[in-house]
Amino acid sequence: MPEFREMAKVTLFGSGNKGGAEFTPAKDIPPLAGKVVLITGAAGDLGRQTAIELAKYGRPSRIYVADLPRGDAEKKAVVERITREAYVQDEDAATPKTEVRFLDLDLTSFESVRACAVEFVAKEERLDILFLNAGIIRVAKGTTKEGYEVHFGLNYLGHALLAKLLIPTLEKTATNTSKPRVVVVSSEGHAMAPKGGIQFDNLKSECASMDYSQRYGQSKLALIHLTRHLSTQHPSLTTAAVHPGRILTGMADALKKESLLVKLTAPIAPFFCVPVSVGIVNHLWAATSPAVLSGSYYEPVGVPGKESALARDAALGRRLAEFTAEQIGGVELVG
Ligand SMILES: NC(=O)c1ccc[n+]([C@@H]2O[C@H](COP(=O)([O-])OP(=O)(O)OC[C@H]3O[C@@H](n4cnc5c(N)ncnc54)[C@H](OP(=O)(O)O)[C@@H]3O)[C@@H](O)[C@H]2O)c1
Repeated sequence: MPEFREMAKVTLFGSGNKGGAEFTPAKDIPPLAGKVVLITGAAGDLGRQTAIELAKYGRPSRIYVADLPRGDAEKKAVVERITREAYVQDEDAATPKTEVRFLDLDLTSFESVRACAVEFVAKEERLDILFLNAGIIRVAKGTTKEGYEVHFGLNYLGHALLAKLLIPTLEKTATNTSKPRVVVVSSEGHAMAPKGGIQFDNLKSECASMDYSQRYGQSKLALIHLTRHLSTQHPSLTTAAVHPGRILTGMADALKKESLLVKLTAPIAPFFCVPVSVGIVNHLWAATSPAVLSGSYYEPVGVPGKESALARDAALGRRLAEFTAEQIGGVELVG
């Protein structure tokens, strides 16, 4: 029962997000004028608040909210909410405000990921910060359009493909003095991955023998390996993985429906969860701090080295990189 033990530990005692790094968005987010940011899952709680704080304090030229396709009115509402909350008290009316744009992205479909990247590169010459933030934890057993287990396919493989397609734009944005960032939102839940870490032989299935925590853990473990892989393959970029802490977001609501342990501990959850404004500090720190070491996993803010042994397993990382290249190698920006 080692997975159950890990799950109970994460549920009851998981780390919050008060780390070693002192980081105050108002003080520490540098000016981002002229820069372009893309955040997946930015209609959701952590992505949206990340966009708000970056727009408020850094004022990049544009922030792209890449999230599930929806009606025009709903997209407009997402964009307007970020803009409204970023500039509710506009203390710096002289500096241009960030333009927020919505991009359709369904990470469960290679075609949608490709279309999202195509649309982005048609609009932008540069990309300074890419957040691979979207994620699911709850869902019933299922597969993505290409037949991968849905947590692995969405949280990991869809993001690996998006990163691959946007790397040329990130690399051409790099200068001698400025490295574009890729912030990979993993989780302390990566420790709940099944024995061996990633069940390669089962990935093109629902992984029916695994519970949701193992399916989630496997996908989040893969994201830590992706972070290291991108860092070694693309030294002109700074790539970091983060655990955001434990936050009562849309994801937590979903989790309650699936996990008895989480349901039972719900009344005391506010005592060991942090608010969204604290939960996004690791995102913001990893995206902007000069102290970030490329290829590292941080849990909580600014604290490296808390990843599981499987997350450090170089042989597993190599096998995942080979597997990933086989699966997404054929998908290119120019079809
Ligand atoms: N909250 C926590 O305590 C916690 C802890 C550790 C790690 N994390 C990580 O933090 C990240 C953000 O989560 P959150 O807490 O902000 O949850 P959230 O509020 O549920 O946000 C997740 C976002 O991902 C979007 N999404 C879902 N399926 C998608 C798909 N197929 N394609 C593109 N986007 C999709 C969701 O869209 P819809 O809402 O329309 O479905 C939502 O906007 C996740 O990667 C999560 O694993 C969170």
